[in-house]
Amino acid sequence: MTAVEMTKIGGAAAWKGSEIDYRAEMMHRFTADEVAEIDAALRACGERDIPDITPETFPLPAMGATMERLRGDLLDGRGVVLMRGFPRERYSADEMARIYVGLGVHLGRPVAQSWFGQLLGSVIDVSDIVEKVRGYAAGGGQHFHIDTSACDIVSLMCLRRARSGGASRIVSLSAVHDRLLETRPDLARVLYRGYYNRHHEMDAKYAVTPPLSAERIPVFTQADGRLMGVLDSGNLRYAVQESGVTLSDVEIEAYDELQRVARSDEFFLDMNFEQGDIQFLNNRNIMHARTDYEDDPDVGRRRHLLRLWLRVDSWPQRPAHQIFLTDGDTTNWLQNRRPFMEFPSRYIAEMAAAQETRRRENTLLRPDKPSGTFVSARGWQEARDRRMAGAG
Ligand SMILES: [Fe+2]
Repeated sequence: MTAVEMTKIGGAAAWKGSEIDYRAEMMHRFTADEVAEIDAALRACGERDIPDITPETFPLPAMGATMERLRGDLLDGRGVVLMRGFPRERYSADEMARIYVGLGVHLGRPVAQSWFGQLLGSVIDVSDIVEKVRGYAAGGGQHFHIDTSACDIVSLMCLRRARSGGASRIVSLSAVHDRLLETRPDLARVLYRGYYNRHHEMDAKYAVTPPLSAERIPVFTQADGRLMGVLDSGNLRYAVQESGVTLSDVEIEAYDELQRVARSDEFFLDMNFEQGDIQFLNNRNIMHARTDYEDDPDVGRRRHLLRLWLRVDSWPQRPAHQIFLTDGDTTNWLQNRRPFMEFPSRYIAEMAAAQETRRRENTLLRPDKPSGTFVSARGWQEARDRRMAGAG
């Protein structure tokens, strides 16, 4: 293996949560003029489906320069933008979906988020209704992670808040990287080498790349003084649990230490969502998680966020050896997309009907909800070994 360059990142990207007031440094408040311009763009856009919403069909002539500046903040500033103050109450959920995608396409190109090809994801707990969901549909807390190499900007819009809790918890991976370089360069080196990744079972079925990565995917790489990070905890866990990958002690220690630093009060930042808030994160430099939350029993009244994965073709691209989920995979997933399926009215109606059926038939699922409390990556292989001992 060639020697990797491990230098401090520093600068605006390496912020610490304890030193940041996000309202002052990461927030854009919609002006009345911007709201009027977005309203006009929505009327111009009409009833178009998600793939047909583009900068041309959702024109923002005056706001374009602002979106350009925000994209610059995402690449070379703090890496976090929260857009707040949009009058959620004036619009239906489906109109909010079009507005959200319309703003998003001025930053990047939406890519499919799972095997069923959704370009606009619903982040909502349906784990009592749908079997084997991924983390975004499972409720509970989450560990810090980066979504996937196929996405440069990960974004959420809040349609409905939780009864309580469910804050977005974010951390600068550059800041964590720099701390590890100072205190544990041996572990930083392990993270530059990375981990084997594996797709979720159904995602793999419709991917064009093999389920397990051929090599370790580096958590850290650098290019032009910028950190490029990938750490999809789910993909690491599936590699251990489904492909029998065994992590060495030092690999476990590196993962655990990264999580420990990220969740220390000094480093992370909690952002509470208000309805209508839109959050954009640089998905190479910002890790995200969420705090546990209290939800409503009825799926139609649960915490509901919409999610976009955006590719930014004008940004410096990730090195090939850091890409696990490819453009080819996400494009292939689109074959399973049904027209208009992502619109919240339709999605919630489908989920509510399925929940009602399960209630009537007494077949509601009862999965364990993750608390978000991090123990150790060692637990993944312990669970696997227990399962295999049980089966054997
Ligand atoms: Fe995520």
